[in-house]
Amino acid sequence: MQHSASDKPLTILGIESSCDDTSAAIVRSEQDRILSNVVTGQAELHAAFGGVVPEIAARAHAEKLDVTVQAALEQAGLGLDALDAIAVTAGPGLIGGVLSGVMCARGLAAGSGLPLIGVNHLAGHALTPRLTDDIAFPYLVLLASGGHCQFLLVEAPDRFHRVGGTIDDAPGEAFDKTARLLGLPQPGGPNVETAALDGDARRFAFPRPLLDRAGCDMSFSGLKTALLRARDACIAEHGGLLRKDRADLCAGFQAAIADVLAEKSRRALEGYLALSPERRTMAVAGGVAANQAIRTRLTELCAEMAVRFVAPPLRLCTDNAAMIAWAGIEKMRLGLAEDRDLVARPRWPLDTRQAALLGSGKKGAKA
Ligand code: KG4
Ligand code: ZN
Repeated sequence: MQHSASDKPLTILGIESSCDDTSAAIVRSEQDRILSNVVTGQAELHAAFGGVVPEIAARAHAEKLDVTVQAALEQAGLGLDALDAIAVTAGPGLIGGVLSGVMCARGLAAGSGLPLIGVNHLAGHALTPRLTDDIAFPYLVLLASGGHCQFLLVEAPDRFHRVGGTIDDAPGEAFDKTARLLGLPQPGGPNVETAALDGDARRFAFPRPLLDRAGCDMSFSGLKTALLRARDACIAEHGGLLRKDRADLCAGFQAAIADVLAEKSRRALEGYLALSPERRTMAVAGGVAANQAIRTRLTELCAEMAVRFVAPPLRLCTDNAAMIAWAGIEKMRLGLAEDRDLVARPRWPLDTRQAALLGSGKKGAKA
């Protein structure tokens, strides 16, 4: 039988540099898909600044891309000649970093003659569940990280419908700000989660923003004002922040985020199920998906609504190049490849039918 271009096995180099992780990966379309996935973080470079500094990030990417690509090829035991294409994040993100990645990929493509594929970073996150779990379209994804928060209905590798998202901060950003206000180290999410373990979530009545409003849009920026007020009241009462106060504040804050994400997920699922999908699936992506309290809520919600819940391993939920290589494979299978004049785009909404979400977090454009 003659194979069409779409079912030929593919092996792709992926490159990601849109935020503060420099990553390169080799992924193939067949089983044992991820041959390598090298991620070099920059947390220590930005630690003193309380957020990612775009200029420092761009410079670090430019310095680390070559060796990261080299390491990915070595770990996979392959040379460029064994590849079918090069996929690179072309946006959205911090423009200096995206540009570094795109220029690196363009150079490699020109030198090797391989096709070049520009991938939307958000598409990389949204398609990851298909890399890990072979799930079918359409499915619902909640993407929640330090820079993004949106519900995406994934209809095809190149067709995404955004059914809601944050109108201000991303939840990871809210966790990071909370940690800063309470004197906990960055990244805030895991530290707030740990502190919350022995806290009383009912002591402080934090708001559940936008729950009274129809639809799936969310807001998290008001939470930090409520938290700040509660913190200051504790300090005024005891002359400082007690360990118990901090634990209760973290637990209350986390419960508010989990409540909002769970209730908005319920609404997003109702809309999704109204389409009568054959294989009912909801997936999560982004660093906030690491949060056990949030995961548990979403797992219970999906069980209640008879929907399969897919949470890829954490290293594939956070920024990485394997997801970019995989999105490249999906694009190539559709016959959408070859973009030798690829340009970097700071903003690149996945769903072009919807008005863009405004705002730009510490980690760059939210798109
Ligand atoms: O996806 P990611 O690695 O990077 C981008 O933002 O693109 O997500 C990082 C974010 C940070 O804001 C971090 O605080 C949050 O994810 N995060 C968590 C947890 N682990 C990481 N938030 C809540 N609970 C966690 N366990
Ligand atoms: Zn990301």
